[in-house]
Amino acid sequence: MQATIVLLGGDGIGPEVVAEGKRVLEAVGERFGHRFSFVDELIGGAALDVHGAPLSDGTLAACKQSDAVLLGAVGGPKWDTLPGHMRPEKGLLALRKGLGLWANLRPVKVHPMLTDRSPLRPERLANVDLVFVRELTGGVYFGEKKRDQTERGARAFDALTYEEYEIERVVRLAFRLAAARRSKVTSVDKANVLESSRLWREVAERVAKENPGVSLEHQLVDSCAMKLLTHAASFDVVVTENMFGDILTDEGAALVGSLGMMPSASLGDGKTGLYEPIHGSAPDIAGKGIANPLGTILSVAMLLRHSLGLEAEAAAVEAAVDATVRAGVLTGDLAGGAPKSTVEVGAYVVKSVLSAKEG
Ligand code: IPM
Ligand code: MN
Repeated sequence: MQATIVLLGGDGIGPEVVAEGKRVLEAVGERFGHRFSFVDELIGGAALDVHGAPLSDGTLAACKQSDAVLLGAVGGPKWDTLPGHMRPEKGLLALRKGLGLWANLRPVKVHPMLTDRSPLRPERLANVDLVFVRELTGGVYFGEKKRDQTERGARAFDALTYEEYEIERVVRLAFRLAAARRSKVTSVDKANVLESSRLWREVAERVAKENPGVSLEHQLVDSCAMKLLTHAASFDVVVTENMFGDILTDEGAALVGSLGMMPSASLGDGKTGLYEPIHGSAPDIAGKGIANPLGTILSVAMLLRHSLGLEAEAAAVEAAVDATVRAGVLTGDLAGGAPKSTVEVGAYVVKSVLSAKEG
């Protein structure tokens, strides 16, 4: 097949890990006979420096025309003091919104070779295999923001709103995913306090009635945060609103042993998906060639699966990552002994993909 993929390296370690993702895509193209063409664009602070905006119209248009977008990370100390609408993160939020990507899939799977890298005891990590479905274009991230003054000083507002249709489509997706997995959906909210969560719960109940083969449980977000550490293996598909999902998925990364291993896929109604590791730009290690590229490479697997429909190719990339971990070819965030560089880890994955058997 032929596909156009936009590469948005972004800031910090972003360009380094995206370069490895690209090499893996090229290896997949070579091994399986596909023609991938790449378009490099800027986002975040890198775009601010060049275009004066964290996401230019031209970049958004290029993404809309593509089959998929692979993104590294945005943000860094250089741009931290800019006003909210000029921050690098605004570029990412505008891209998610602009492409209509309302669902963010974040799988949490603990590699058996890496259980000793997590702060949790290995027995708590056995059989952990869950996927978060984070609502991505609503909630407090996109609500009205403002500041004013009271007689006591400054006051800030961030509105948290959800409409029924926004909840319904993401919960439906969670049920669809669960039906192909272990048939259990956990819907996470704060319905004991928030009105938006009470609506969320009502809608989830309604969607559950359409899906009698899948069980639904509700969990309050504070309790879910704890159960992730004590009973992670009991979760299958966890669906939640935007900010709860942001927080819980970083917690999930601690189970996996490193934030650097966590991929994500952002999907919507259109055909174009956005794929990115969930780690940030890590300015402290940027430019040193030591960032873990596996979160990006696992995002490439999700890209092949969800945007290009190439299941065997996706599985081949996942198997190559598995082989890399088993061989102990790991960056410093995971390596026990001598850490490998970003490029060395990428090269090992590439080599494994090139020698993959037909799916
Ligand atoms: C993430 C990130 C982003 C988010 C930031 C960079 C805006 O933390 O993808 O989880 O909060 O969604
Ligand atoms: Mn986050």
